[in-house]
Amino acid sequence: MGSGSLDLDRIPAHIACVMDGNGRWARARGLPRTEGHRVGEEALFDVVEGALEIGVGWLTVYAFSTENWRRPADEVRFLLDFNEDILLRRRDELHERGVRIRFIGRRDRRVPRRLLRRMDEAVELTRSNPKMTFTVAFNYGGRAEIVDAVRAIVASGRSASRITERTVARHLYDPEMPDPDLMIRTSGECRTSNFLLWELAYSELYFTDVAWPDFRREHLFEAIGAYQDRERRFGAVEEP
Ligand code: FPP
Repeated sequence: MGSGSLDLDRIPAHIACVMDGNGRWARARGLPRTEGHRVGEEALFDVVEGALEIGVGWLTVYAFSTENWRRPADEVRFLLDFNEDILLRRRDELHERGVRIRFIGRRDRRVPRRLLRRMDEAVELTRSNPKMTFTVAFNYGGRAEIVDAVRAIVASGRSASRITERTVARHLYDPEMPDPDLMIRTSGECRTSNFLLWELAYSELYFTDVAWPDFRREHLFEAIGAYQDRERRFGAVEEP
């Protein structure tokens, strides 16, 4: 599907993606799982281009979860190196396209210092870019994010009766990030898997059988088309 049939006045402001199915895509072709991640990079940057083309302001992708450390050591190593490598190879191009790069997730000791440095460099380089905010969820877990927010609130000494939803939202990893309007998960699994647990409360969820390595901007436009066909009420009822 092209972007032509979309209503450009109702493009979701924030789209979040669970880029699932890389391993299965590769296995189905007799390739190592890591090959699926490599092809997944092409999918990701086509989606970034598509999002820029239609004016999506915020795009967030799940690159590495707090549960992904449980994968075989060689795949974990590959994913760490791969993320660092992508940052090095792609940051200038993203910068030129006016994309602001941000990260959400735990900066704990398992994340190599060099990778943290690359992340900080990419954030610094692109911090004033106006076109789109591209957030990479790395060593991210939705429950961990809520736990970290609770810790920060307790550490601030705020009294329990003064804690509201706004307080929690302000202590999430990126308080400026708006809640996603649309969450896309590829490859047939219909779960959120600990992704943006707090932020997805009212998001439209879109699941597709297309594996992430095969996902392209046309599929993104298809998902947005489906989103535009839905009616969002945020718990209210439609006016008569
Ligand atoms: C899920 O497929 C995908 C991942 C765990 C990693 C995807 C990461 C990228 C495409 C790179 C992103 C990097 C940056 C810096 C933006 P899976 O392995 O869980 O697939 P399966 O469910 O078939 O096993």
